Amino acid sequence: MTFEQRLDRITSDRQLHGRFLQHLSALEKSGHQKLLRLKHRWDLTDEDFLGHLVDEARHSAHLKKMAHSLVEDRDNLGPLTKNYLTKLEVFILRALRLNGPVHSEACYVLLTHVIETRAQKLYPLYEANLAQKHSNVSVQNIIDDEGEHLALMRVKLTSLGLSPSILADAEVFEEELFQIFIAQF
Ligand SMILES: [Fe+2]
Ligand SMILES: [Fe+2]
Repeated sequence: MTFEQRLDRITSDRQLHGRFLQHLSALEKSGHQKLLRLKHRWDLTDEDFLGHLVDEARHSAHLKKMAHSLVEDRDNLGPLTKNYLTKLEVFILRALRLNGPVHSEACYVLLTHVIETRAQKLYPLYEANLAQKHSNVSVQNIIDDEGEHLALMRVKLTSLGLSPSILADAEVFEEELFQIFIAQF
């Protein structure tokens, strides 16, 4: 099944679609929480970072509201969404440490870069499918924000001068994690 076919299956089934939205909301929420932890750990306080922190919380709330329009609220979604981000962060931190002292922003920039790249593949295809079905659900505002986050990370990544292989390896690892995540739908 292609990714587009899987998305079509999801949006054709109210229960499945609601569950999908709940998981996306949980992913955005863990993204927000992960950023909060990084903020405390590395004392990140620049305005771009703080704006990003707020955006991810807003994304989670928006997706949760749309999920709630389709299915009953559910808080316990199982470990898959939590594992996705935690495993990715552990992978990136390990790769960074193998390359020498870790710059305070490096983990944030790499982790965000990989996640936003995924978001730019996932959300536009999802939005296209929703539009085709004239759905009331839309993620266009999230697509716009994630595009800005990715552009920011590209600039930061260049200025950090990290080895391109760390990003490439992290993207390969993320692909595996995402396949496990999406296979549940
Ligand atoms: Fe987001
Ligand atoms: Fe983002």
